[in-house]
Amino acid sequence: MSDTKPDPIAQMEKIVSLCKRRGFIYPSSEIYGGCGGVWDYGPLGAELKRNLREAWWRAMTRDREDILGLDACILMNPAIWKASGHVDTFADMMRECSLTNKRVRADHVEAQAGTVMQFTGARAANGWSISRQITVLMKQGEHIESFRKRVRALIGQNAGAAAGKAEEIELLGEQKIEVVTASVDFHPESCGLLGESRPFNLMLRTYLGPTATEADVTYLRPETAQAIFAQFKNVFDSSRVKVPFGICQIGKAFRNEVTPKNFTFRSREFEQMELEFFIKPDEAVEIISGEVAKWTDGADLSEPQPNWGWEMWHQYWVAERKKFYQSIGLGDVLKDYWQTKDDLAHYARACVDILCEFPFGTEELEGIAARGEFDLSQHQKHSGKTQEVFDEDLKNAAAKLTPEQKEALIQKRLAAENSKVKGEPMPEADVRAWFERLFKGNYVPHVIEPSAGLDRMALAVIAKAFDETVKIDDKGKSETITVLRFHPRVAPIKCGVFPLLKNKPELVAKAREVYALLKPHMNCFYDETASIGRRYARQDEAGTPFGVTIDFDTLGEKPELLNTVTVRERDSNAQHRISISDLLGWLQARL
Ligand code: GAP
Repeated sequence: MSDTKPDPIAQMEKIVSLCKRRGFIYPSSEIYGGCGGVWDYGPLGAELKRNLREAWWRAMTRDREDILGLDACILMNPAIWKASGHVDTFADMMRECSLTNKRVRADHVEAQAGTVMQFTGARAANGWSISRQITVLMKQGEHIESFRKRVRALIGQNAGAAAGKAEEIELLGEQKIEVVTASVDFHPESCGLLGESRPFNLMLRTYLGPTATEADVTYLRPETAQAIFAQFKNVFDSSRVKVPFGICQIGKAFRNEVTPKNFTFRSREFEQMELEFFIKPDEAVEIISGEVAKWTDGADLSEPQPNWGWEMWHQYWVAERKKFYQSIGLGDVLKDYWQTKDDLAHYARACVDILCEFPFGTEELEGIAARGEFDLSQHQKHSGKTQEVFDEDLKNAAAKLTPEQKEALIQKRLAAENSKVKGEPMPEADVRAWFERLFKGNYVPHVIEPSAGLDRMALAVIAKAFDETVKIDDKGKSETITVLRFHPRVAPIKCGVFPLLKNKPELVAKAREVYALLKPHMNCFYDETASIGRRYARQDEAGTPFGVTIDFDTLGEKPELLNTVTVRERDSNAQHRISISDLLGWLQARL
């Protein structure tokens, strides 16, 4: 494997190019010039994503007794997005270019140097004109004539056919205003002056119903989580579960990102994998267990315990999610960032970002938030439907408390409310009403939310797997070979099957037999063209961890090797002679 750190931009370009060349990821609608921030997955990408999706689903629900799955629709009643806060606050601050009207996220504008130029307007020979101030940055080192040409082209593009040919547009009243060395007031591409920062809601609006009026407006969901909250009661009532338990779902989410970037990292259509893990409020844990376990470094998180409050559960989920990333080969490129009190939303108690090293920097892969009872309470308030659960154990334990013990619990909560740094403290009357319901066994569950992006995970896995090696052939010629060193569990193709020669029917027949043996159990690829070395290289580039070659020994040229094949391992190049009857088990043990 290569040991020098590659140039990140070149590395990313190579990854994007490999993804297209080998059928992992293509730009959407490419034959029509693309569709910004939207990507399609080709045959290998679809398999990779499917493997990641299945690994997540297995880890989050199939392998556990306390998590159930959900498959909710993308379209929902728009009242959900009002209750969740998305209608009012799901916005990025953005600025608009005064020249082209293109928007850019305010925090994504990089400082630029150059000369600020101004024009009083522009006109064309056909009578078209604009008479407003146009302010554009002439970039440092840009020739004045190329600058004017660029401005004419941008004005022409914006005006469309009305302005005629861009090169014939006359710029009026040119003036040099000032030289700037590090200004963040110009659009990164057009260099047009940017307007003030304004909030820009990221939800994609659509209409549901025949009239297509404002009354029919709804949204393509910007996260899968809200459907889980909206269906919480149905799942709880229909599944004989007890808190703590979780509901998870995988599905599409849509955000009208102002500046989609870094390949699929920030897309406008993407897939999320979210778990809402519902837990008892700490007060309920204290009443039932007599205490709430305190988190200390190194505390045992292997088995959930009845005395765990939100803090232990949060730590537990951070540890579980890291274990998951380890299992798909991403363990060593992860870091975690614990949000500070200032970063946190007012309702959140803690949030950890699992960060991953991408060629373009260390960025968020998943967020794990302790969100209190905020989400279910909001839906209870806005829908008028109770989201409370009844807990028999809690009712029985509370019945044994003395009035003084109950009052002590209330006082503790009041003190906590009054020392809140963010958000309004709950009024005393509401705190007392809440405890009254709690002592009867009723509460709205709190939630821990591990929320991951599937497309980001796929990109992280591809970037981590990407490697180049230089091979010297028999004639001393060197060739750079790309290898995707996927963890076998997520590799799109698990095994290549190759007859040594394609013009020997006995070899081909045996190879097809081996292929037919493996195919029902794993995604295999049969290839009989070109030299074995070339076929290995093709599969290395696709990230296939194993290659099986059927040769003359398989047919019994050496009788002791009859019905054996050579298995080559992608990363070590090690070769093993294995009997066909053991082959499936040998491969399955390594996937
Ligand atoms: N329900 C919580 C939530 O949606 P988020 O941090 O906005 O939280 C969770 O999103 C995850 O979804 C992110 O960590 C990321 O992996 C993925 N994600 C969010 N926006 C994305 C985008 N525009 N493109 C690709 N993935 C995205």
